[in-house]
Amino acid sequence: MTDLLPAEAIGMAAERIDGRSKVTGSAPYAYEYPAGNPAFAYPLQATVARGVIRSVSTAAAEAVPGVIAVLTPDRSPELTGQDDQELAILQSGNVAFRGQIIGAVIAESPEAARHATGLIGVAYDELDHNVLLDQENPELYAPEKVNPAYDTDTSEGDVEAALAAAAVTVDATYTTPAEHNSPMEPHTTVALWDDAAQRLTLWDSTQGAHNVRSALATVFGLEPEQIQVIADYVGGGFGSKGMPHAPVVLAAMAARAAPGRIVKLAVTRQQMFAFTGYRTPTIQRLRLGADGDGHITAIDHSVVEQTSRIKEFAEQTAVATRIMYASPNRRTSHRLAPLDVPVPSWMRAPGEQPGMFALEVAMDELAAACGIDPVELRIRNEPGTDPESGKPWAQRHLVACLREGARRFGWPQRNPRPAGQRSGDWLVGTGVASSTYPYFAQPSSAEIRYRGDRAYVARVDATDIGTGARTVLTQIAADALKVPLSAVTVEIGNSALPTGSVAGGSGGTSSWGSAITAAARQFRDEHGTSPAAGASTAADMPDNPDSKTYAMHSFGAQFAEVAINSDTGEVRVPRMLGVFSAGRIINPRLARSQFIGGMTMGLSAALFEQSVVDPRFGHVVTQNFADYHIASNADIGAIDVAWLDETDEHSNPMGSRGIGEIGIVGAAAAIANAAYHATGIRMRDLPITADRFL
Ligand code: MOS
Repeated sequence: MTDLLPAEAIGMAAERIDGRSKVTGSAPYAYEYPAGNPAFAYPLQATVARGVIRSVSTAAAEAVPGVIAVLTPDRSPELTGQDDQELAILQSGNVAFRGQIIGAVIAESPEAARHATGLIGVAYDELDHNVLLDQENPELYAPEKVNPAYDTDTSEGDVEAALAAAAVTVDATYTTPAEHNSPMEPHTTVALWDDAAQRLTLWDSTQGAHNVRSALATVFGLEPEQIQVIADYVGGGFGSKGMPHAPVVLAAMAARAAPGRIVKLAVTRQQMFAFTGYRTPTIQRLRLGADGDGHITAIDHSVVEQTSRIKEFAEQTAVATRIMYASPNRRTSHRLAPLDVPVPSWMRAPGEQPGMFALEVAMDELAAACGIDPVELRIRNEPGTDPESGKPWAQRHLVACLREGARRFGWPQRNPRPAGQRSGDWLVGTGVASSTYPYFAQPSSAEIRYRGDRAYVARVDATDIGTGARTVLTQIAADALKVPLSAVTVEIGNSALPTGSVAGGSGGTSSWGSAITAAARQFRDEHGTSPAAGASTAADMPDNPDSKTYAMHSFGAQFAEVAINSDTGEVRVPRMLGVFSAGRIINPRLARSQFIGGMTMGLSAALFEQSVVDPRFGHVVTQNFADYHIASNADIGAIDVAWLDETDEHSNPMGSRGIGEIGIVGAAAAIANAAYHATGIRMRDLPITADRFL
């Protein structure tokens, strides 16, 4: 075909390609795989927080009609790869946390499986446990690295001397609670273990089919080629489906125990509070020193957080502090408390979300102590180059975001005095915070095929977890091929496709899109504009030399208006505004939705979300949506989003960065700062509940 399209597909506000199939219920999610005669697995969970299983009685469970098999540590096959203790389930009688998977029933119906599981008797030798994060924990240790591979500690200059000499100081401790990722679709896996062919097929709700394939290959001692993972449609993940967790292993074990049968496993909402990952609670001490004009002379951010004894996860909570503001003296550190708890994991903007809450509230405290406007304080401490690496910024437009946000939000009209505004029974205030998220791209490959009749296919194992990846990848492919959107179909969500990185780190579109663009350009070089039907070209995401030369981060400014009822302490957020610098926006319609989603999740963290653990029993007691409240429509006022019109010359061929996570970062701090402005009461601990104002 030769009718090339001059207009660029990138930047179009295209509607979701899969919108209609999703709202009409025809988009297949993992659990809906139409297996002819499936069996169903239900996990058995430990009811002690730490101990050793003494005995398991399964007779009553086995007597339930329809039960096919019962798995216990005693009668489960040995797993080849046991290094990852989160995944190596049923390999011993040791219980490492309450709710851990210690068995399963496979049955003809989900009801029979669940009922029979409840009839299994387990006797334990209980051991002492500790499930509460405490900064005095004697076992605190420094991990080797923090997620994904940052230095644990950093230090430059003399923080103590600078603090001692500072005209103004802030020294405060901030806390954030454990939070649980709660995507609409819980984790589900449909598994088929073909013993004769030695093949494992999984329809899995995951953020990365390739990731699941390689993890399970290790666990089961298979070659990756013996495993296929299919993830057509995924109903959210927010990080919890980024790394495989125990249920996907259990589904595969269950399928192996039910030869020839497809086995379906759906994690319940309550089980998600036990074994599919969560955000660690944090205790953060922030010390800032500044001269009389608000120029920062010292930043010290020390973090205490938790990990599980069976597998380390070290959240990178203080990492954003390293790059945010200019200061000659800087120090950050992370310490972990190993506890008898489930393994913490990724949850939207791990690190930046809790860390920027602490830093950005501390900045508000510094502004108040200096008597400087909080927007101006941030502008005054803008670093010319990355303070951490010394590298030039690829594109640091924080100041532009702050100025544009201040203008749109009406910041110049703000009364600088806290607790100075009332509207009837409500104390009203406004607050600001900065936002940031690093640019990531991970190796990916793509293939372009021409089917003939003006139909192109772009193939990459990307995952659309609800973000709109299917749509933006179609735009990117159309743009690179210079054809209309309607000429391109994308094939994603399958480990049989060319390698795609996990849908995480806000890097999916950058990674998959770079590979698609490379493949499309090479396709045109090889096959021209009138290709033969069947022509195809594969390419890898090229190396980006600029990623070593430049510091690449997105930035944003979050503004919030908060109203607090003077009688009840009820907190309302009538208005939020986020202004972001995230490179070129590939699809404004979908981007707006992503930013609003992030800010909504930030509001939810600010006001509601808290996984409360019972120290006696070790489980999360707020394990349902009544007790673990997530912001709903009624909690949200007007959320306005804007972004700078820009292209990143250094990131990737699309000129984009990432937008999945930056929207959540800073939102809670802006709300906490607005609550202070409304009441004069400083909010250093999340969530900000009504009782805190009484
Ligand atoms: Mo996101 S927490 O990197 O899936």
